[in-house]
Amino acid sequence: MKVNTKLSISFYNVMKTISDSIDLMSEEITGHHKMVAYIALRIGKKLDLSEDELRKLVFSGLIHDIGILYFNKNIDEVLKDRTNVEHAYIGYCLLEDYFPLAGYARILKNHHADWNKIEDEKINYLSNIINLSDITAFIINKMNKDKILIKDYIVEEIKKYSEGKINKEILDGFMTLNEQESFWLDATNVKIRENILDDYIRENLDLRLNLEQVLSIGEIVSHVIDFRNPFTATHSKGIATISSKLAEDLSYSKQEVKIMEIAGYFHDIGKMGVPNYVINKKGKLSDEEWAAMKSHTYYSYYVLDNIKEVPQLKEWAAFHHETLDGKGYPFKLDRTKLNNGARILAVSDIFTALTEDRPYRKGYEKDMVVKILRENVEKNKIDETIVELLIDNYEKYNRLRDKRQEEAMADYEAFKNNTSEEIDNIFYNKDEFISPANF
Ligand SMILES: [Fe+2]
Ligand SMILES: [Fe+2]
Ligand SMILES: [Fe+2]
Repeated sequence: MKVNTKLSISFYNVMKTISDSIDLMSEEITGHHKMVAYIALRIGKKLDLSEDELRKLVFSGLIHDIGILYFNKNIDEVLKDRTNVEHAYIGYCLLEDYFPLAGYARILKNHHADWNKIEDEKINYLSNIINLSDITAFIINKMNKDKILIKDYIVEEIKKYSEGKINKEILDGFMTLNEQESFWLDATNVKIRENILDDYIRENLDLRLNLEQVLSIGEIVSHVIDFRNPFTATHSKGIATISSKLAEDLSYSKQEVKIMEIAGYFHDIGKMGVPNYVINKKGKLSDEEWAAMKSHTYYSYYVLDNIKEVPQLKEWAAFHHETLDGKGYPFKLDRTKLNNGARILAVSDIFTALTEDRPYRKGYEKDMVVKILRENVEKNKIDETIVELLIDNYEKYNRLRDKRQEEAMADYEAFKNNTSEEIDNIFYNKDEFISPANF
């Protein structure tokens, strides 16, 4: 297989993938992150920020609420509660150690902080612009659209919510922007504002990433998804390890092995759309909950479609619940449609789920794992060649998975220790999950 060492990926495409996945959390916030990024861009330009500052501003706007998933309350309530600053700190903890997003961690940390409580003014100038953009997006959403061009109304609203929070220079810059009717007309039209944002980023701010950098971002994404539940805290790490090792042993190119590892990290990204009470529920899911759970790979496919440079990523990552008999979900693909990469990921998912230790049980022993895998082959669910390769080298794969998941556990423990006070006990309070009825 040919190695294309020049494969480079648009940073914006990767950030859009994350932004779209965060938006899945609630219909009320669909497009929120792009809206904040758009408003921040317009304010930043008004303030004559440098290209580098604009880039930081826009890209952090695209993911600013990434820490919002860690609450047992209704997400819409958390989002409306403008005093909830914990999610900003959680976002900071998720990003701080991972290049190339580490530089954005500090901006996220203070995106709800009052200006006068801010220590490092240079970084926090950008946080403060995100804060004002978020306030503006909030006002636009709750406003009757007929009032959009009534200046006094907007000015009063902005002042009411910005009082003591926003730096004067930023606010003054915003007020001159506010003079332009076109700003408000652009901002309130989804299609127009997203087109403006898209064109501006692609022409002026985008960067190219190599696969190693995308892998590092994938690791952050896997934490966002897996850390919500102690049962699955290192799940994606296990899958990324097994799927990339299988690909290597099946003579995939170095580049494809890397893509397979990335697919492992991203495979459950659509789970951001599944509510915490479903993710963390003990016992059987109701029909509605199960339907919500099953939608996750559909959304994984849809958000990964942003990364156009690596079309196989969405197929390998998002088909892991399809089965060879065509009875999996959500696309009902069968063996004539499921490529080998997707088959590797499906086997890796089952193998990891069976062998990993979970807080309520130890991983299954080899005999049991082999039996279940072969039964699934027998039932025409998963690929026999891949399963037999895995069984032939069982100890090698299992030891590697175990080692990598143990390392990943340290990341989880560190995250938990850093954030335990900020989080609504979703880590260990597993006997008291909020039931759908009072969610
Ligand atoms: Fe926020
Ligand atoms: Fe926000
Ligand atoms: Fe899954």
